[in-house]
Amino acid sequence: MNSRELPRRLLDRLATAHSVLVFTGAGMSAESGVPTFRGAEGIWSTFKPEELATMNAFLRNPQLVWEWYAHRRTIIATIQPNAGHRAVVAMEKLVPHVVIVTQNIDNLHRRAGSTTVYELHGNIERNYCVKCGSPHQPDAETAPVGVPRCASCGGLIRPDVVWFGEMLPEDEWNAAVRAANGADVCLSVGTSGVVYPAASIPSIARRAGALHVDVNPEPGPLSEAADEFIRGLAGEVLPDIVGRLEELRSRPNITEPEKGL
Ligand code: OAD
Repeated sequence: MNSRELPRRLLDRLATAHSVLVFTGAGMSAESGVPTFRGAEGIWSTFKPEELATMNAFLRNPQLVWEWYAHRRTIIATIQPNAGHRAVVAMEKLVPHVVIVTQNIDNLHRRAGSTTVYELHGNIERNYCVKCGSPHQPDAETAPVGVPRCASCGGLIRPDVVWFGEMLPEDEWNAAVRAANGADVCLSVGTSGVVYPAASIPSIARRAGALHVDVNPEPGPLSEAADEFIRGLAGEVLPDIVGRLEELRSRPNITEPEKGL
């Protein structure tokens, strides 16, 4: 049963939408057990980003940075996509094009079954060589202790995630901007919206004509800029939205008064 009040214009727009873009951040995975970055219990309240998430930090202390990402990879491997991830997968049956643009590196959208996912900040399950750029898949069974080295050139292996000061992956960014320009609705979910250029995706979509709706338990810069704000958890609000959309899409479209009465 859906008891949450959802904005009328979101439901109206979704009922006929051809393309929905879902822009996600760490809050999307919070209910799966992945900590967010900001806030009292966020990762950046305990660790300094410049000591763990920059190329300089890696070159200064590769072991520390590698182990931190190895630890996060272990946590992520044990958790599961949540009801929010599953809801956006279900949306694919109701809307012709559903595109996920995510800042998350945890791979949970793909694991849940979303078809089109653009990862603006990389993916923790991939690694590459800092010297020759070759991809590298460490073998958990035979991995040596310490930072792995490239089999072809001996360079250090790093996680394929975007660190502070680095460019976003060009193909993913271009695809995300194209999707934003073609979206009828943009749902931003679980992001503080403070890390650019990723955070500009909802405003690109809105300028191109999309209705922008922000979903978050707390208001922030994106909710202020959005057309509508739904206060709540991703794992509750998204299933509500998809439930209402199912009802709307299954309802016959009555365009003229019924005849013969
Ligand atoms: P943040 O940690 O900055 O923000 C998480 C947001 O999720 C906050 O606005 C929370 O209020 C919200 N939130 C928490 N629980 C939620 C839930 N269950 N449902 C919905 N929302 C919830 O994370 P991001 O915005 O993703 O970049 O951070 C952006 C980037 O900053 C990250 O990709 C990462 C970080 O530094 C890099 O590593 C390059």
